[in-house]
Amino acid sequence: MSTLAIEGMQWGDEGKGKLTDYFASRAEVVVRSQGGNNAGHSIVRDGKRYALRLLPSGIFNPDVVNVLADGMVINPFALVEEIEGLKAQGVTKFNLLISNRASMLLPYHVAIDHAREAMLGNSKIGTTGRGIGPCYEDKAARLGLRMGDLLDEKQLESRLEGALNIKNRELIAYGAEPFKKEDILKQLHEVMPSLIPFITDTSAYLRDCLKQNKKVLFEGAQGAMLCLTHGTYPYVTSSSPLATAIPVNTGLPLTVVNEVLGVMKAYTTRVGEGPFPTELFDEIGNEIREKGHEYGTVTKRPRRVGWLDLAVLRYVKEISGITHVGLMLLDVLGGLDQIKVCTGYKIDGKLIDYMPCDVPSYSKVEPVYVTLPGWKEDISNVLNYDDLPQNAKRYVEEIEKALGVSVAMVSVGPDHKQTIIREELFK
Ligand code: IMP
Repeated sequence: MSTLAIEGMQWGDEGKGKLTDYFASRAEVVVRSQGGNNAGHSIVRDGKRYALRLLPSGIFNPDVVNVLADGMVINPFALVEEIEGLKAQGVTKFNLLISNRASMLLPYHVAIDHAREAMLGNSKIGTTGRGIGPCYEDKAARLGLRMGDLLDEKQLESRLEGALNIKNRELIAYGAEPFKKEDILKQLHEVMPSLIPFITDTSAYLRDCLKQNKKVLFEGAQGAMLCLTHGTYPYVTSSSPLATAIPVNTGLPLTVVNEVLGVMKAYTTRVGEGPFPTELFDEIGNEIREKGHEYGTVTKRPRRVGWLDLAVLRYVKEISGITHVGLMLLDVLGGLDQIKVCTGYKIDGKLIDYMPCDVPSYSKVEPVYVTLPGWKEDISNVLNYDDLPQNAKRYVEEIEKALGVSVAMVSVGPDHKQTIIREELFK
């Protein structure tokens, strides 16, 4: 089977949407396997802008099967709203499968997310406020509902009652309003007819695809540094965005991923709290934020901006088996006299060649920089790699040297045409 996984290599928002959309046109099946509507990307097609939160990028092509797989947390109301929004924009056919094992994210998860963040005050995570963490907590606590429960009224009601029995106590302890089972059931009944036809055993379906050698694209959400286990814990999301998590999140065997395209920005951004060694607080940071439109798609928060961090990228390449890199937003760095790149860290004055796993140590690291010369030319219309200014090519090649993988694609603008292809993947 020909498969490709797309993984964000930083703290999310790397520009995965553009490349996912590009490869979705070559896929027969596009799969989202983790996270929920904390993700968000906009896709521009024929001059129209579409916002996707939960739906995979193949949704615009009626011949592509789009799968919301087992490891996701799905807010049924947000999903129906997204489907209705796309219908209003002219999308008529939804070739969609929703896993019966995917977790159902309900309004009390959102309420707990908000109440908890408020309670944490200065120690808050800076979540997207979509209830993601509380929903995954319930999954681990074996308290959660799954999308398959929508197919069985009795099971739905009894699971909801069991969950509310515990969740309402937590909400009351936070001083928040408890939820009534009847209200949630009523709301669910309104959206169920729109969702039930799509709910199935997606893992069995995907195994069949494997047998039939179908082309499957695994669309990543968030970024590796937000991985619950391997990221900057606790300032992370509650799932694993690593490509290595795909098998368990889809019900497929270990060998399912043939190639992993790691997507990175030419600089670094993050939203929410947590350590960020190369963060810029000066005019250059502001310039990059404005030029790169670095404001959250889901929450509209201004993103924190910093220089490229090769220590992060080396670590992520190693833990997730990245085979190729897609370098995004290179055009945004144009016009700078000099560009700094972090090649490693010092801690207490000593060079280290690893990424500390705990926040107190990671907050203490000092980045070690090399300074590369910038370029003044506008590169947003360059189509061939050889036509890039010498210093832009040098920037790309420094990344390749440091990571030991090829930069297969370089994006120089938001449009599909503004992509330099150096190596064809997923042919
Ligand atoms: P949560 O996923 O809403 O629980 O948020 C946890 C952390 O992950 C916060 O720092 C969020 O800003 C961050 N986060 C979650 N989803 C995304 C994303 O799609 N892009 C960038 N950051 C994200």
